[in-house]
Amino acid sequence: MTKIKAAITAVGGYVPDYVLTNDILATMVDTNDEWIVSRTGIKERRILKEPGQGTSFMAIKAAQQLLEKSKVDPKEIDLLIMATATPDMLVASTGVYVATEIGATNAFSYDLSAACSSFLYGMSTAAAYIESGRYKKVLLIGADKMSSVIDYTDRTTCIIFGDGAGAVLFEPNTEGLGLQDEYLRSDGIGRNHLKMDAGGSILPASEETVVNKQHYVFQDGKTVFKFAVSNMADACGRVMEQNGLTSQDIQWLVPHQANKRIIDAAANRMEVTEDKVMMNIQRYGNTTSATLPLCLMDYESQLKKGDGLVFAAFGGGFTWGAVYLTWAYNGA
Ligand code: UT7
Repeated sequence: MTKIKAAITAVGGYVPDYVLTNDILATMVDTNDEWIVSRTGIKERRILKEPGQGTSFMAIKAAQQLLEKSKVDPKEIDLLIMATATPDMLVASTGVYVATEIGATNAFSYDLSAACSSFLYGMSTAAAYIESGRYKKVLLIGADKMSSVIDYTDRTTCIIFGDGAGAVLFEPNTEGLGLQDEYLRSDGIGRNHLKMDAGGSILPASEETVVNKQHYVFQDGKTVFKFAVSNMADACGRVMEQNGLTSQDIQWLVPHQANKRIIDAAANRMEVTEDKVMMNIQRYGNTTSATLPLCLMDYESQLKKGDGLVFAAFGGGFTWGAVYLTWAYNGA
């Protein structure tokens, strides 16, 4: 019997219209375009400004684009996994609302939260459902409205993050194409280095938490950077070793877009040249769960059936890893 692989068969994405440039940020905090570009590679990011619109707004747009492009009937979707660190609200799952809004009325849905590795872990989860034969169409969405948890008076975080959403459809493939292997890890040592202190069960919202700005993301950038550089590169190397791959076997590195210097380290470890690295950090910044699918959105037309892709991410928690996947269709 042919083994079922889980292949990506369609891609969609959405970024809000408003462009927050480095020059605009320089009017808000003590920073400048030269510093931001040289330290991170980011030139601008998109921000969802309209009041009352949350992560689901962007997720719905990304999913709708995917459905329109692929002509898939939303009623055929079995499961929608919503990867996000910034759900619309706590308790009520964002994915459930998104599924209903896009007409996926025969699907069940839930949110998956692993900071910047949410989408990467979601790939593993989605693929497992397909490989087992349990479901035929799993929609994985990565979306974050990071602007909802960023302090725009803190120059160490506000320059990095942006808002966006991306979606991919996983379906069974009997040609051997799709998710091949993964190397996923996590370490609770990261808990204090990248976090939002209040609003959870340890420190519920109060007047004091608001005054103390504890509903914003705190990041010990230097420490996170150090762990990210070594672990993301290590994960890329391991997934290649596990599968006996050389740089010749990899057509694309699809890295989490947190800092160009972290991406460069992963590319060096894999010995892949810059033309094989998907990069849109300069336009979107770090959109957390949306970085990987937004890369696919931007590079889809260049992808060819059989291409070898390594996805890699590192995020809060700490969470990190790499996934090796072969592409299932010609993008053009
Ligand atoms: O996606 C989730 C995981 N997150 C990451 O992967 C992010 C990892 N961290 C980073 O990308 C980097 O650490 C940052 C981009 C956040 C910071 O870059 P850095 O090269 O690590 O800078 P630094 O924190 O070492 O700061 C260097 C200097 C400091 O000044 P002094 O102490 O040397 O005088 C900072 O105060 O740069 C200063 N600085 C800034 N200057 C201008 C910090 N932020 C800014 C800023 N503009 N926005």
